[in-house]
Amino acid sequence: MDLKGRDFLKLLDFTPEEITYLVDLAAELKDKKKKGIPVDTLRGKNIALIFEKTSTRTRCAFEVAANDLGMGCTYLDPSSSQIGKKESIADTARVLAGMFDGIEYRGYEQTIVEELAKYSKVPVWNGLTNEFHPTQMLADLLTIREHFGHVKGIKLSYMGDARYNMANSLMVVCAKMGMHFIACTTPKYFPEEALVKQCEEIAKQTGGSITLTSDTMAGTKDVDVVYTDVWVSMGEPDDVWTERIKDLSPYQVNKAVMDNAGDKAIFLHCLPAFHDLKTQIGAQMGERFGITEMEVTDEVFESEKSLVFEEAENRMHTIKAVMAATLGA
Ligand code: CP
Ligand code: NVA
Repeated sequence: MDLKGRDFLKLLDFTPEEITYLVDLAAELKDKKKKGIPVDTLRGKNIALIFEKTSTRTRCAFEVAANDLGMGCTYLDPSSSQIGKKESIADTARVLAGMFDGIEYRGYEQTIVEELAKYSKVPVWNGLTNEFHPTQMLADLLTIREHFGHVKGIKLSYMGDARYNMANSLMVVCAKMGMHFIACTTPKYFPEEALVKQCEEIAKQTGGSITLTSDTMAGTKDVDVVYTDVWVSMGEPDDVWTERIKDLSPYQVNKAVMDNAGDKAIFLHCLPAFHDLKTQIGAQMGERFGITEMEVTDEVFESEKSLVFEEAENRMHTIKAVMAATLGA
């Protein structure tokens, strides 16, 4: 498998075999890291990280993985570069590609990261856009595989806003990997029809399936993975909270949902999560709406079924695999 020089922008661009290769490589790199075996085969290379939205996991995963691989790493935050304000994406891509061996981009529309890649002669990695979050998918696949021993045939139910980056990406990855994706939410929040159709076509080839349902119990019955995400994503206006809480509260992941899922079912969340009032926004929402939890109850979040911190750690091993594969370790 040769992925050297490839961009990593969305999983629609990758075959099931390529995706499996990246997850296998991540598992191997994880094992080596645990055993203290260094893999610094990218010594002398440098990468740039562009973040137009905030991050904890993705930024740290790229930085630690780059260090482990022996690379230098430069972080550009939303306010400290000329991108978009004084310099176009096309110009930025050509400037950075002259200095760096790879570029990570987190921001708004998918078209921006696609344009960056078009003008960059070095690999570009999507660290999250409004539409897709592909590096998160590799971490989720690794976590699912570690728990169940396989990914094919796994039933995954996504509850919440299924029109955004997380549900879109999960639907694509399930279709690609022969898994069963269920969007369990109110129809207003179902994924875009064109992407559903595209994923249904892919799923036909792989033995996967796509289901859209607003029935909470039917949508989570005997599933293997219950997945959710924040109800309001980065970059969305503050005034959507009222509507989201009203619309999505019936799709909160709680004990009843987990009890209805399969015996070995796990809970996953890309994080950050609103499961208590211990954050600024959590506390504000508590005051405004008289609630103590949002997309997931604290009980489920803290339960044994919740693998969210294993999942978060896997961000680093999988991002390392993406860089090693595309930079040719
Ligand atoms: N899951 C995820 O992408 O987390 P960050 O926003 O902290 O990077
Ligand atoms: N949907 C969330 C995912 C965060 C990792 C957001 O875009 O903010």
